[in-house]
Amino acid sequence: MVSFKQRDIISIRHFNKEELLYILDLAKQMEQTARMDVLGGKVLASLFFEPSTRTRLSFESAMKRLGGTVIGFAESGITSIAKGESLSDSVRIIEGYCDIIVLRHYLEGSAQLAADVVDVPVINAGDGANQHPTQTFLDLYTILKTKGTLEGLTIGFLGDLKYGRTVHSLVYALSYFGAEMFFISPPSLRMPRDCVEELKDRKVKCHENESLFGISKKLDVIYCTRIQKERFADPVEFEKVRGIYRLSKTMLEEIGIKDDLKILHPLPRVDEMDESLDKTEFAVYFHQARNGVPVRKAILAAVLGVLE
Ligand code: CP
Repeated sequence: MVSFKQRDIISIRHFNKEELLYILDLAKQMEQTARMDVLGGKVLASLFFEPSTRTRLSFESAMKRLGGTVIGFAESGITSIAKGESLSDSVRIIEGYCDIIVLRHYLEGSAQLAADVVDVPVINAGDGANQHPTQTFLDLYTILKTKGTLEGLTIGFLGDLKYGRTVHSLVYALSYFGAEMFFISPPSLRMPRDCVEELKDRKVKCHENESLFGISKKLDVIYCTRIQKERFADPVEFEKVRGIYRLSKTMLEEIGIKDDLKILHPLPRVDEMDESLDKTEFAVYFHQARNGVPVRKAILAAVLGVLE
């Protein structure tokens, strides 16, 4: 039997196919239910050490829509971290004030570190370039809703595959559903080798390309990503790849795509996806961001164990 009660959500690799589908089903129920005060009296600590619009606000909205309350910060400079307090001391203190912690931090492994020192559940809202598991749940939910299935899709991941934590999470989840994956990036931003090796061990058909030309007509989904300027150690290296991909309606018409292609993007976008796409039937990225609320409602309710 599937149970998320009091579990940490650190990496998508900790969940099997049945568990992924359980959350997607619960999210569907959440979307169909106008109001459900199941988290009355519960407190979410929302701790964001990196900028966020979608993840933070959709978690906070989800918590409040389920009747719970939120404490926390979106700027660590106003906390005692600025006086030199460690992350592990901070979360040890904060767990005394809440029932669940949602943490975004620039260091890989930070969510696991927090989970190791507190008893309340910790949800990883993005740790450096490592993982962003709740984004994966909403990406899967969006694919399922717009394609009608998760099984046997051909998916092109485009852009910054080195630093893109949403991709690093999503590929493991899609490996359960027989996906064929095309990784399209400049050589300097290829998928991490360990990630590709693990996918191959899972018998996933993976291909690496530098361009969409020649493969675009095979794709059921394009998962576009931003080049993550903030993660480059050397600004010169960023300048070499800045603006390297720019999806537009005209460009896609020229290279050829499936009629029912769907384009996802975790957002924010910078220059990699032209606004000419926004009103096309291919674009589902704004729906994708909106799906953050029912999916995160499902995750909060499941982890806090109120639906069992
Ligand atoms: N998709 C995503 O993580 O967006 P934010 O950085 O705005 O939370």
